[in-house]
Order: sequence, then structure tokens, then C-alpha cells
Amino acid sequence: MKILVTGGTGYIGSHTTLALLEAGFEVVVLDNLCNSSDAALHAVEAICGKSALMIHGDVCDRPLLDRIFQQHSIDAVLHFAGLKAVGESVRKPLEYYESNVCGSITLCQAMAAAGVFRLVFSSSATVYGAPEQMPIREDFPTGTPTNPYGQSKLIIENVLRDLCAAEPKWSIALLRYFNPIGAHASGHMGEDPSGIPNNLVPYISQVAVGSLHELSIFGDDYPTVDGTGVRDYIHVVDLADGHLKALQSISTRSGINVWNLGTGDGYSVLQVVRAFEQASGRSVPYRVMPRRSGDVAECWADSSKAQKELGWKATRSLQEMMTDTWRWQSNHPRGYQG
Ligand code: NAD
Ligand code: UFG
Repeated sequence: MKILVTGGTGYIGSHTTLALLEAGFEVVVLDNLCNSSDAALHAVEAICGKSALMIHGDVCDRPLLDRIFQQHSIDAVLHFAGLKAVGESVRKPLEYYESNVCGSITLCQAMAAAGVFRLVFSSSATVYGAPEQMPIREDFPTGTPTNPYGQSKLIIENVLRDLCAAEPKWSIALLRYFNPIGAHASGHMGEDPSGIPNNLVPYISQVAVGSLHELSIFGDDYPTVDGTGVRDYIHVVDLADGHLKALQSISTRSGINVWNLGTGDGYSVLQVVRAFEQASGRSVPYRVMPRRSGDVAECWADSSKAQKELGWKATRSLQEMMTDTWRWQSNHPRGYQG
């Protein structure tokens, strides 16, 4: 089977490309490299001895998409391509809606024209907003995202839902990720954020390696175990496996299916800092700052639906996530550049 992976040189897309190649799929990657480099695909090849075909281009480029579908017999699409920085989305809403929403619509139009109706979409727990109850199940109502990035995910989910309702040939998985972290166990693939990281674990690991001075902890007055925010951190390799299971599953289903991909466990910021210090043997200096606007106190998944319907369950512990992050960060202090 041949799979088109949009955003396949990015953090989650590259780990999933590796998992696909290891499982015997052929992979065509489409990426405009706006937040990644093709070095990730060189690492994939070095690890598994197989390579994906890389096409440098934009998911909004309909003629290019048409050419890809004409030249390759694509069976299904994993759609990771998009912009993901919450703060930047507030400053540049049009870029976010264009890349995320228009890109997804253009992709679906090209797929339909080519007779390809299987799609796995990267959604996010952000679509739930701030539920009153934990853990979060897929049947919880979606909330009102507080930023254009979150809005774009919810809009795309709704577009895909309407598409499935209108045309029964479609089979679409909406995968709502919780907090992906970690790196491949080889230490040669991982997260390589450009500029100063927005997310907790990349920030901590850059403090530990000496690239950043100290961590700011955004609030210690939440109603949580120690006052800091609680999240469901999931190892990126477990997440990649979830995509293979979803791909398998939508081949035998039709319509829209939603699955949470999380571990079902929540950890606080301070618990993550401690776990990282233990894994790395380095201390992570921090300072408590005011809460970050838009953050919820806690967020973790009920992932039993994925377990029951996909036969998928995250298996890697927080300690493993920290050890793998540190192996990648210490081997490659400047990410894929060194
Ligand atoms: P990433 O930025 O590492 O990967 C996204 C890739 O898409 C990058 O390689 C980028 O160059 C490419 N891209 C962006 N816009 C494009 C366009 N218009 N055309 C072609 N390529 C384009 O991000 P990631 O962490 O791997 O996230 C992958 C997907 O998962 C994204 O859709 C993101 O919104 C979603 N997601 C991520 C998280 C997270 O915390 N990392 C959580 C929930 C959902
Ligand atoms: N945090 C800090 N200091 C930092 C960064 C984060 O204290 O420098 C705290 C946050 O306040 C939060 C926790 O660490 O309590 C996790 O924050 P992240 O920024 O790592 O992750 P979020 O839960 O805010 O958001 C992430 C992705 C979103 C996605 C969401 C749910 O960034 O794109 O998970 O999947 F929508």
C-alpha cells in the first residue's frame, strides 16, 4: 500500500513515516519545510534502511496535489501538514486558517478527484476546550477554542464530518492527540522546534542542555496535585503506532471516527521537571510565573475507545519519554543541525 504523508518531515509525521516504512508501506511525503528539514527523512532512512519519496511543496497547491495523485497510486492519506504554534496563530490568523483549513479542503478536493477516500487527520485535545470532568471522552462536547490554531482544528473536524455525511465513500479518522513528547529510541530523531520552544518538554530539555537559562512555570495556583498544570503526555512513537492502527481500521469502516490518543494519565509540570531531572542527571532551574492565558488546569484522556476499537494502547512511561527526549537532545543539541 502507498500512503501520502503530508507534513511527513515534521515531528510526528517523521516518526509515523518511519513506522509506516518499517511496517512495509510505501510512503510519499509532501512537505513545504516551513517548520522542518528533510534531515528528518535522512534519519528515517538511516534507522530503517528504507526511504520515503520526498516532494517539496504546499498542501494548498492543487495542481501539485493532482500531479502527485496522478503519478502515484495512493491508497490513503495521513494529513499532518499545518501550522501549530498557538501564540503565533493569534498574531497571524490568516496564515493559520489558510494553511490548516484551506490546505485540508484543497487536499480533500484533490483526493476526491483522484478517487482516494481514506484520510487520517491530526486533530487535538484542544477541541474539547475546558471540560468540567476528567478524563475526557470522545463524546464530550467540543468547546470554544481560545485561539485561531484551535479554531482551525475544530473547523476542519466539522468540514470532514460534513464531507462524510454527504458522501458515504469517505472513511476518515479524527485523531485527537493529547501532549506528544519524546523521541525515537535511537536518539537520532526527535522534536526540533525552530526558535524558542512554546511547549514544556522541548523547553525543559533546552534548559538542561544549556541553550536556555531557566524554565518559566506558568502558574502554581491551579486546583491540581501541586498547583501546576496537568497534562496527558504521550510518547511520539506510541502516537505513530496509533496512526497505523487507525489506518488499518478505516480500511474496514466508513464515515467519520474519532479517537483520543493519550495515555490516560495526567502529570503536573513539576512532576515532569522531576522526571526529566532524574532521566538526564541535570538540574532544571525554574521560576514560577503567572498563569499563561488560554491554559486549562488539567487535561487528560480516556483512551479506552481507541483500545477497544483499534486495539491500541500507549505503552511507554513518562520516564521513558524523558530518557528518549534527553538522548535525542544530548546527541543533537542543535536538533537536526548538529
Ligand atoms: P510540525 O510542525 O513538526 O510538523 C508539521 C509539518 O507540516 C512541518 O514539517 C511543516 O513544514 C509542514 N507544513 C506546514 N504547513 C504546510 C503546508 N501548508 N504544506 C505542506 N507542509 C506544511 O508539527 P507536529 O508536532 O509534527 O504536528 C503535526 C500535526 O499534529 C499538526 O497538524 C499539528 O497541528 C497536530 N498536533 C500537534 C500537537 C503537538 O503538540 N505537537 C498536538 C496536537 C495536534
Ligand atoms: N508550561 C510551562 N512552561 C512552559 C511551557 C508550558 O509551565 O514554558 C506548562 C503549561 O502552562 C501547561 C503545560 O506546561 O500547563 C503543558 O504546556 P504545553 O505548551 O507543552 O502544551 P499545551 O497543553 O498547552 O498544548 C499542547 C499543544 C497544543 C495542543 C494541546 C493538546 O501545544 O497544540 O497540547 O493536544 F492543542
